[in-house]
Amino acid sequence: MLVGKKTLLRPLHAADVEVYHRLDADIRQVGAFWPISMKSERSVKDRFEKSGYWSDEYSVLLMTDHADKPLGYVAFYPGALYQHTREIGYRLFKTDDHGNGYATEAVSLTVAYLFASKPIERIQAAVVVGNIGSRRVLEKVGFKKEGLLRSVVFLNGRHHDMELFSILRSEATSLDQVLAPLPDARARIAASS
Ligand SMILES: CC(C)(COP(=O)(O)OP(=O)(O)OC[C@H]1O[C@@H](n2cnc3c(N)ncnc32)[C@H](O)[C@@H]1OP(=O)(O)O)[C@@H](O)C(=O)NCCC(=O)NCCS
Repeated sequence: MLVGKKTLLRPLHAADVEVYHRLDADIRQVGAFWPISMKSERSVKDRFEKSGYWSDEYSVLLMTDHADKPLGYVAFYPGALYQHTREIGYRLFKTDDHGNGYATEAVSLTVAYLFASKPIERIQAAVVVGNIGSRRVLEKVGFKKEGLLRSVVFLNGRHHDMELFSILRSEATSLDQVLAPLPDARARIAASS
């Protein structure tokens, strides 16, 4: 589990699958920049049973607050066949939760985790042109814009360009700097006595 100051990130538990499907399926909440492909509950359960949404092809980290309320998720997956990288995607389930710094912290934790656990030099993310909030998240984590992917994604009835961003290992913050510190042992003993 990745523990930040505001968010926790962890692979899905079996008990999360229904709520993950229900929250992910509410297309009123996805905004104008996220594909609205609906998934059946059966297909989500089958994928969970097969891999736990945790495989080399596609992994999901559920984002919760410290009271275990689901906020959204970060997914990561390989790039094109020849690439030695990971690409990330992320969303919050509810628009009410936007603007609290959750995605910035979750992306920062995921990037640090990926560089600490995998021999990769780069992580990339693609953002639909105009998705200023997402672009800002990447910039705050240290990603740099590389260029434009033309007509690469189909959204709301038409194709859109996306901006490609990346961060290199040498540019990223280390995991120990982004994880929330463990509570001081003396403070814990004092609190429990
Ligand atoms: C994009 C998304 C993940 C951002 O999550 P979030 O938790 O609200 O992001 P944060 O609060 O960490 O940071 C958002 C930043 O963007 C800024 N921002 C958001 N919307 C903005 C806008 N329309 N114009 C300018 N800045 C904007 C915020 O002010 C904040 O920057 P700041 O801290 O410098 O003020 C969330 O809006 C979302 O889930 N959108 C739908 C799915 C999606 O688009 N995912 C990204 C796919 S690449």
